[in-house]
Amino acid sequence: MALHQTLAQTLSWPSSYATCTARCSKVPARTPKIWTIMKIAIFGIGFLGGKLMKYLSNEFEVVGASKNSHDSFVKQIDATDINRLEEFLNIEKPDIVIDTIALSSYFLCEKDPKLCKTLNYDTAKNIAKICRKINAKMIFISSSYVFNGKIGNYSETDIPDSTNKYARSKIRAEKLVLKLKDALVIRIEPLYGYDEKDNQIKVGTNTFESDIAVGYPDILRNPVYINDIPKVIKSLIENNQSGIFHIAGPRKMKWIDFLKTLASIIHAENKVTIVDNSNWLLKPPHDSSLNISKINSLGITTTSFEIALNELRRF
Ligand SMILES: NC(=O)c1ccc[n+]([C@@H]2O[C@H](COP(=O)([O-])OP(=O)(O)OC[C@H]3O[C@@H](n4cnc5c(N)ncnc54)[C@H](OP(=O)(O)O)[C@@H]3O)[C@@H](O)[C@H]2O)c1
Repeated sequence: MALHQTLAQTLSWPSSYATCTARCSKVPARTPKIWTIMKIAIFGIGFLGGKLMKYLSNEFEVVGASKNSHDSFVKQIDATDINRLEEFLNIEKPDIVIDTIALSSYFLCEKDPKLCKTLNYDTAKNIAKICRKINAKMIFISSSYVFNGKIGNYSETDIPDSTNKYARSKIRAEKLVLKLKDALVIRIEPLYGYDEKDNQIKVGTNTFESDIAVGYPDILRNPVYINDIPKVIKSLIENNQSGIFHIAGPRKMKWIDFLKTLASIIHAENKVTIVDNSNWLLKPPHDSSLNISKINSLGITTTSFEIALNELRRF
């Protein structure tokens, strides 16, 4: 799919003339302004960034940047280098910047707090600083793991209270990003779906290629189908939303049941193994489920597990 496909659905008033699409005919002939497509820069083209780039490219002009990119459509940029970041954003001048960069394993964050802070907080700080300068809307991807998981069904008004390294880095980054005008913070539950880059089903940071060790089988989650995230973000952009939004699947499940069912569609149930957790560095939040009534109130829903499984069976 062409990454710079034009589409005239999401439009902004530009200061200069640019690509004219079919909709231009609706603009009065003498108007000095015509519609143009919003430009989005996505940082971190991993599991989620790849999906965002593919989907949003149908609707917006999209540029991507990642640390180890080997893709000609994705610029190779280390976001810890603020000068390189600034140069890139000054050239591209996006209207919106989406930050998906992270050390997304909370175990690795606990093992290497310095790297955790560098990737989860410092890069967000760098991006936010430049967004302020170029007047771009920043969208920061956060996690349900900012909550300690004692009560579950967390809504956007609940105060994040988790104290592990991953959570603390995300909470600090959220606070900083929310100081920017019009910024969006998107908290998500564990992601699952098909990763085109690796050609396999992925859940969180795991695939079924190797064993998935489950130390706490009874924890509760409402995992979200990854294909939903770009659609929700597109709706939030089009509705000019700002602030915090939670995105999760519609059903809360026991982690072990969720994993086994997901694994069953590729006959990999044997890859999901319950292990002794006595030497685990961290206890995961028991119930990190997110309340999604705020997005629902905007008419946005997320895909049921059953429908997602049917889609995934086709891969
Ligand atoms: N996966 C989940 O279940 C889940 C759940 C809740 C929240 N989240 C959040 O969602 C976001 C995306 O997660 P994901 O699963 O897509 O993670 P991912 O696959 O690990 O992607 C992270 C991306 O960050 C990039 N990156 C790392 N260091 C960088 C740097 N210094 N400069 C530029 N790019 C850098 C990596 O680039 P390279 O690939 O080029 O090295 C990678 O593409 C993260 O913020 C994560 O915390 C994820």
